[in-house]
Amino acid sequence: MVFKVVERSKPVAGWTSKGCFLFAFIILAVVCSCWLPLIVQADDTASATYAERCAVCHGPTGRADTPVARKHNLKPFNSPDFQNTSEEAIVDIILNGGPQKRASHQFSRKGVTPESAAHLAVFVKQLSRQ
Ligand code: HEC
Repeated sequence: MVFKVVERSKPVAGWTSKGCFLFAFIILAVVCSCWLPLIVQADDTASATYAERCAVCHGPTGRADTPVARKHNLKPFNSPDFQNTSEEAIVDIILNGGPQKRASHQFSRKGVTPESAAHLAVFVKQLSRQ
């Protein structure tokens, strides 16, 4: 019994050296290419960025229910005013601090790309609607 198994595995083992590496490489490439979009997405999710960089002031649900928000008289994201603000204007607020060029919101200088700002703009608009 044992003999048979060893004999059988021999040719396979011989094939291993080159073929198996290639095979493993192909599998790896396929698996990686499947996961890559997920990884990139997870890296770039607006909800993660929001939780990390915005929630401290705007509140986890965007309802301006934090001490900072009260202190600065921040409007909740579900206010009609904010809901009527265009996404372009929100992107501008996030990246450049809006028309007033608020230093606190010049996130383009703090590693937020125009792409993730666009995601964030959509995200914050929907955030407190639920
Ligand atoms: C240090 C606290 C703080 C952080 C962090 C912060 N904000 Fe703000 N945000 C404010 C304050 C204060 C205002 C209101 C400023 C004003 O009206 O002059 C504001 C205003 C805004 C507005 C405009 C709201 C309106 O009603 O016009 C948007 C949009 C916004 N923030 C998005 C974000 C996003 C997205 C992030 C994270 C990338 C973020 N903010 C991080 C404090 C903060």
